[in-house]
Amino acid sequence: MKPLKMGNIEAKVPIIQGGMGIGISLGRLAGAVALEGGIGMISAAQIGFKEPDFDTDTKAANLRAIEKEYKKARRIAPEGIIGFNLMVAMRHYEEYVRAAVKAGADLIVSGAGLPTDLPGIVKDADVKLAPIVSTEKSAKVILKFWDKKYRKIPDLLVIEGPQAGGHLGFAREKLEKFEDPAVYAGEVRRILAVVKDFEEKYGTRIPTALGGGIDTPEAVKAALSLGVDAVQVATRFVTTEECDADIRYKESYINASKEDIIIVKSPVGMPGRAINNEMIKKVENGERIFHSPCHRCLNRCDPANIPYCITDALIHAAKGETKKALLFCGANAYKANRIETVKEVLEDLKKLL
Ligand SMILES: Cc1cc2nc3c(=O)[nH]c(=O)nc-3n(C[C@H](O)[C@H](O)[C@H](O)COP(=O)(O)O)c2cc1C
Repeated sequence: MKPLKMGNIEAKVPIIQGGMGIGISLGRLAGAVALEGGIGMISAAQIGFKEPDFDTDTKAANLRAIEKEYKKARRIAPEGIIGFNLMVAMRHYEEYVRAAVKAGADLIVSGAGLPTDLPGIVKDADVKLAPIVSTEKSAKVILKFWDKKYRKIPDLLVIEGPQAGGHLGFAREKLEKFEDPAVYAGEVRRILAVVKDFEEKYGTRIPTALGGGIDTPEAVKAALSLGVDAVQVATRFVTTEECDADIRYKESYINASKEDIIIVKSPVGMPGRAINNEMIKKVENGERIFHSPCHRCLNRCDPANIPYCITDALIHAAKGETKKALLFCGANAYKANRIETVKEVLEDLKKLL
């Protein structure tokens, strides 16, 4: 098993636990993964939802929770690699990035939009930066932009494929085109060719990770055989004891069948993958779901015209209020049939390495 090297830091196990918002991957899950030698990622998306002032001062609640959850993870894994996942689409993105760096994050993984300004925000802080891309086009855009504006390459490039959970970086037609893993493997090779150009230009390696539907030792092996250095896995970690979500959310994975997993259009404007439920059916029937006072969480959202509030729906999910929730999941969530420990999941995934 080759460790994942990012400059001066090294994860013994080349498995990154993908950030899962809202409240699915917090300090407990990230700490548990980091303790076992993988990379634990805390999702900063509306991370302060359990704070008493979340409704009245959302930003302060989120900033406080960033520090709390980092400390929690660090207590569990004093020597482990712990990062934050931050979505570009979030309002106050810059401040949340700075808070994550100040808390002590080793790594920032950033997607849901291209993190064009990330190097400028962190400046020369000692933190590794990893954009998420899904296509050759997005890889080219971000690598060229960072090169031109900052003379910088990513410390890690995360490639997120069409089987992933949460928001997806593809238009619906592309999702269909890439349904066949062999077709997406071609796109991964094209992304790696783009990476190679920049490796040559800078005379150094740019480590890469592939995520989306990787849930077995065979899938880990197949991903690495495409030429990436690591895998990013999320769905498989939801049904662990350590996952920060309510047990009823975990059970919704265990009880789901393949047909229950569908693509929805999120109010963010991107497609997302989720478990079909009452809430989704209501929205599909044209119902508008009442939402709590707006937290102004996204840069681009029109609260008066959205069918439902994504923050409300994802918080319901984390709290286990599954009927009212948007239950984000990866394409293979239906395969879960029991609650495992993080250690068991990692032991299984790295079996063939
Ligand atoms: C419940 C859930 C929530 C997610 N939330 C986020 C998120 O907030 N930000 C993000 O960049 N990716 C998010 N993702 C994507 C994961 O980080 C990961 O890249 C992807 O799901 C990997 O595929 P897998 O779930 O099939 O292993 C989420 C995935 C799931 C399943």
